[in-house]
Amino acid sequence: MTNDSYHAKEKYAGNVAAGYDDRRVEKPHWGREQAVVAGFIADIAARSTDATVMDVPFGTGRYVDDYLAHGLNVIGADISADMIAAAADRMGAEIFCQLDVRVADAEHLPFANGAADAVVSTRFIKWLPNLAVVENVIGEFARICPTGRMLIQVKVTADGGPQAGGVAAAIKRARWLLRDGVRTMLSAVVGREGKKTRRYHDGDMRAIFARQGLTIVDVFDDEDESRAIRYYILENEGGAGRA
Ligand SMILES: C[S@@+](CC[C@H](N)C(=O)[O-])C[C@H]1O[C@@H](n2cnc3c(N)ncnc32)[C@H](O)[C@@H]1O
Repeated sequence: MTNDSYHAKEKYAGNVAAGYDDRRVEKPHWGREQAVVAGFIADIAARSTDATVMDVPFGTGRYVDDYLAHGLNVIGADISADMIAAAADRMGAEIFCQLDVRVADAEHLPFANGAADAVVSTRFIKWLPNLAVVENVIGEFARICPTGRMLIQVKVTADGGPQAGGVAAAIKRARWLLRDGVRTMLSAVVGREGKKTRRYHDGDMRAIFARQGLTIVDVFDDEDESRAIRYYILENEGGAGRA
């Protein structure tokens, strides 16, 4: 692996790509993600006609039916040619050729400034190795979508988790911390640190969004709190972020 490489850049190839949907589609959180993205798309479509959504990483294009059903144009990118091939296979040539999906690194996307009116990014930030890479990616999203909304899914740390006070919330948080600690320890023991997903602090994510000129419109968590999955709905109102 090169210095700027990380596990997720290489993981989704061959059989992992070909079997991606089959291994996940029955899991309850898959359906919940579909529903969250469907709600976001409906909102985007209601706000503007002929909008373009950028989906990064595109993966197997799991939200494409919804995008097209709402009349959105679709662009996207994924670093894995095999994942894009699995997407093309799944949806068929007639649908795939309506999209502009490219093999590319999310830190250097091949789309022009302002090419998108909305961004969807799920199951990605957790794979990024550090905050600098996270910021590069969010900066690219802001460059390509200088006016519009984004849905960014992040796995957050326990202190970025349930915000409610009280004894029940404290117990939940303690359980969460314990589970996270055990997982980290086990990963270290079996030498899997680089292969493990990462949780980021809510505060760090908010600082990145602010530096990139993104306003938080809404924040909500997956209903299964132990998953620590948070969705940020962001608005870019004119590109205060990096040029
Ligand atoms: C867990 S999958 C998520 C796919 C899809 N967004 C979803 O929610 O099902 C992670 C994806 O990130 C892609 N990926 C990893 N690193 C990337 C990078 N630097 N730039 C673009 N795509 C990347 C992988 O190839 C893989 O398709």
